[in-house]
Amino acid sequence: MLKRVAEVISEAEVFVITAGAGMGVDSGLPDFRGDHGFWKAYPAYARLGLSFVECANPQHFADDPSFGWGFYGHRTNLYRETVPHEGFHIIKKWLERNSAEYFVITSNVDGQFQKAGYDEERVHEVHGSIHCLQCQTPCSSAIWHNDEVITIDEATMRARQPLPRCPGCGEVSRPNILMFGDWSWLPDRTRVQEQAFDRFLAKNADRRIAVIEMGAGSAIPTIRATSERIGWMVEHATVIRINPREPEIKPPHISLPCGALEGLRKIDALLSP
Ligand SMILES: NC(=O)c1ccc[n+]([C@@H]2O[C@H](COP(=O)([O-])OP(=O)(O)OC[C@H]3O[C@@H](n4cnc5c(N)ncnc54)[C@H](O)[C@@H]3O)[C@@H](O)[C@H]2O)c1
Ligand SMILES: [Zn+2]
Repeated sequence: MLKRVAEVISEAEVFVITAGAGMGVDSGLPDFRGDHGFWKAYPAYARLGLSFVECANPQHFADDPSFGWGFYGHRTNLYRETVPHEGFHIIKKWLERNSAEYFVITSNVDGQFQKAGYDEERVHEVHGSIHCLQCQTPCSSAIWHNDEVITIDEATMRARQPLPRCPGCGEVSRPNILMFGDWSWLPDRTRVQEQAFDRFLAKNADRRIAVIEMGAGSAIPTIRATSERIGWMVEHATVIRINPREPEIKPPHISLPCGALEGLRKIDALLSP
């Protein structure tokens, strides 16, 4: 199986890199894997009996902004501190070796691909980014970079004042992330990225495409569905699904049942002379 993966990688003219929360695990980030995974990462919410879905709700920014910013401020700080694991660089090496075109599609909001040196213009963040802010109302369609300093009391997971605010109206701002039950998310930035990806795929549809999918779960299957759609719709596309717990995919697409970094290292070892 690994040999076939190495063949697909070495012959690829185009790479589509698709990633879910599991891509961050080898950089030390938690995935959420249902309520128990979430509570292990955030014991304060276990004490409060609140699930990921309940915490990731835009209503908190209106009702109790210190609570809303507690969750998202903590994650902002965590993702700012995180160093992307070696796997990000292994793929970049393959891109250079093949002089290949690429695009990243991720449900992660953590900005780790850009941090690892991937071109901002070649990333589609389907659920938005924690590093961008918008007004919670919203009073306008403005989306701006999040360079706020946010401090959190980790015992209560509440953010300390002052909280990030909208420069337009002075209301508390929120991350430009699609949350649950979210009617005020501004999709404009993500739409622009999506259109760039659609143009990319249309331009490259006749070429040999390797879709490398890593850490995409089936609970919110957006990323898995995207990889599969490309795999079935585009003639010369092969999907390589790297996932330790849910690696299933129908042939001719290929399943690697291991962690992202481990899988990428093994493939790389076969490619290197
Ligand atoms: N870093 C982030 O931005 C971040 C973190 C957590 C959740 N989220 C988002 O929240 C939603 C749900 O999150 P979730 O945690 O249930 O994610 P998920 O549903 O994507 O599940 C994580 C997946 O990663 C796999 N995995 C675990 N360890 C791995 C490893 N070392 N290498 C590769 N794969 C590994 C698991 O088997 C699972 O399939 C998604 O939209 C997700 O993108 C984002
Ligand atoms: Zn505003």
